[in-house]
Amino acid sequence: MTYAKASASSAVSISASEEQRIVFPPKRVQERAQIRDYGHYRELYELSINYPTVFWALQSRLVDWMKPFHKVLGGGLENGDHSWYEGGRLNASYNCADRHAATWRRDKAAIIWQGEDENDTRTLTYYELYIQVCRFANVLKKHGVRRGDRVTIYLPLIPEAAVAMLACARIGAVHNVVFGGFSAESLGERIRDSGSKLLITADAGKRRGELIPLKEYADRALESCPEVESCIVVRHTGAPAGLIGGRDSWWHEEMRQADIFSVCLPEEMDSCDPLFILYTSGSTGKPKGVVHSTGGYLVYAALTTRYVFDIRDDDIFWCTADIGWITGHSYVLYGPLLLGGTTLMFEGLPNYPRPDRFWQVAEKFRVSIFYTAPTVIRSLMRESEDWVYRHDLGSLRILGSVGEPINPDVWMWYYRVVGRERCAVVDTYWQTETGGIIVAPLPGAIPAKPGSAALPFFGIKPAVVDRDGRECEPGGAGQLVIEEPWPGLMSGVFGEPGRFKQNYLTAYPGKYFTGDGAAADEDGYLWLLGRVDDVLNVSGHRLSTAEIESAIVNHPSVAEAAVVGFPHEIKGEAVCAYVIVRSGVKADQELKDQIRQRVRGIIGPIACPDRIHIVRELPKTRSGKIMRRVLRKISSGEYENFGDLAALSDPGLISELIEEAAGA
Ligand code: PRX
Repeated sequence: MTYAKASASSAVSISASEEQRIVFPPKRVQERAQIRDYGHYRELYELSINYPTVFWALQSRLVDWMKPFHKVLGGGLENGDHSWYEGGRLNASYNCADRHAATWRRDKAAIIWQGEDENDTRTLTYYELYIQVCRFANVLKKHGVRRGDRVTIYLPLIPEAAVAMLACARIGAVHNVVFGGFSAESLGERIRDSGSKLLITADAGKRRGELIPLKEYADRALESCPEVESCIVVRHTGAPAGLIGGRDSWWHEEMRQADIFSVCLPEEMDSCDPLFILYTSGSTGKPKGVVHSTGGYLVYAALTTRYVFDIRDDDIFWCTADIGWITGHSYVLYGPLLLGGTTLMFEGLPNYPRPDRFWQVAEKFRVSIFYTAPTVIRSLMRESEDWVYRHDLGSLRILGSVGEPINPDVWMWYYRVVGRERCAVVDTYWQTETGGIIVAPLPGAIPAKPGSAALPFFGIKPAVVDRDGRECEPGGAGQLVIEEPWPGLMSGVFGEPGRFKQNYLTAYPGKYFTGDGAAADEDGYLWLLGRVDDVLNVSGHRLSTAEIESAIVNHPSVAEAAVVGFPHEIKGEAVCAYVIVRSGVKADQELKDQIRQRVRGIIGPIACPDRIHIVRELPKTRSGKIMRRVLRKISSGEYENFGDLAALSDPGLISELIEEAAGA
């Protein structure tokens, strides 16, 4: 059996022989796992599906409640009005800091931070984290931030990012973290859309020894955000920050003021109150503000961390994601801290200054749980294995992967070379919208099949369906839906009440549509096959073709653009743009450079097209719709079997496009 990838990109094509490979949990992992056999997983899974309210009522004990809830689940996927733990009151920062600071964990490391420079390290114990969070919460209050207000955070991966997020949560403000790799324009759009009144940024970030002028970008963004009254700036690199009087202030100066106390009572939040907004790309040109509510999200983040990573008190948990993505929210910050774990934050890159930087950091801090993305593994795989073998990675126990399908060869390399066949590899499938992992092999209980994310997590009822909503036979490729709500599911799209239902619940009424293609094999293992919509996944980062197209046509010389993905060895998928220029414009390299510059400026470097083809015309139907599947095929180097081309208005165009693409 072969599962061909359903949409644009690359990495997965699973042949029968690979599919049959099964890797059992290593003994040393299994012996100490919290769930250590398949039967136990199955029992809990059945309970979670057949008696969801009982199951989720039991799991709610992972967090401390200020007032008990009276209903586990209200509403559902029919209307998108699902709400978890109604009536319950709690505070996220209390759960991540206070309750541990009050126990023997007071002096345990909550956050270990390693900067890009080897000598830059910091540790925050639970007690120190608690104090910092209280103080910064008081700073926010002093700046007029109140319950329900939005605060945008645009920071490098430094401990202040965690402190700022928890301080928002403490006073009931909604954090909106924007990845530091986004441009000024993207930042401005997200600040405006969220209606934030305060911005937290840094003088600069660091990347390969160079400075990323975050404050400069923030200043530019704020030019179009008049509602932002204050901007608090972390001094991180010492780069000039150009504070603007009346609006900007230094974090460290704010924190040491005499009127800033180390005590700040946590706000009692309703379980359904929003905890954060996180913007993500959909299939339209405008990013969506995904909203997660407090109670359900926290319980789900805690439970998935507990079982998928099998975290214990003596673990050092390193999730390499930036805090600006959902992976950073759920598995750098909330999951590990809710459970009193130690989370490692690393500011740098996997291959700077040398290709063994990740392994050197893992060795230095005796990391036991390591969670990264296939694109990172692929890029490190290209280097000599010696870089890995040079380090003692004996502390590792669990290796996670997230962000895109992991090719079986890459999986095996991770297992063999990094894990030395003594660690469990967990391929975790989920999305910004799902709040936490929804499909993964539990490391001590579920045998892995390299290339498959394995089985659903507790409470997740997946189905692979065809276009008419009929369940596919085992092995048949279809679209992945989830049939019942779970606590991690987003509560809505910020500021657009009908959009959640419209976007996710209407394609298959009453079911959550993931936008991903998948196939389930005879054992129920899920094989993810990539997006079926116009969302690209470049190095595990989600990008919308429509957003990139609108950035390209923003260039005055461009008349029209179509963007598709194509397979890329390291990135998984890369961006290819077909561009029509205005008459009289010279289609040269300089123009292509300018277009790239434009995309960087409007979205950020991650969206920059790898290939730009300047063409006479785009393949369109007679009604003017761009035939993207034709462009996808051509970009992927497939020059035949285009399927039905009867609708194509200009049949002669295909050979011209092929010639242009092949010459690139
Ligand atoms: O296509 C799936 C892919 O990443 C998408 C979600 O992207 P985002 O919301 O940015 O969140 C990424 C981190 C959770 C999904 O729709 N994806 C994520 N993990 C996997 C995956 N595809 C296959 N296997 C995975 N393990």
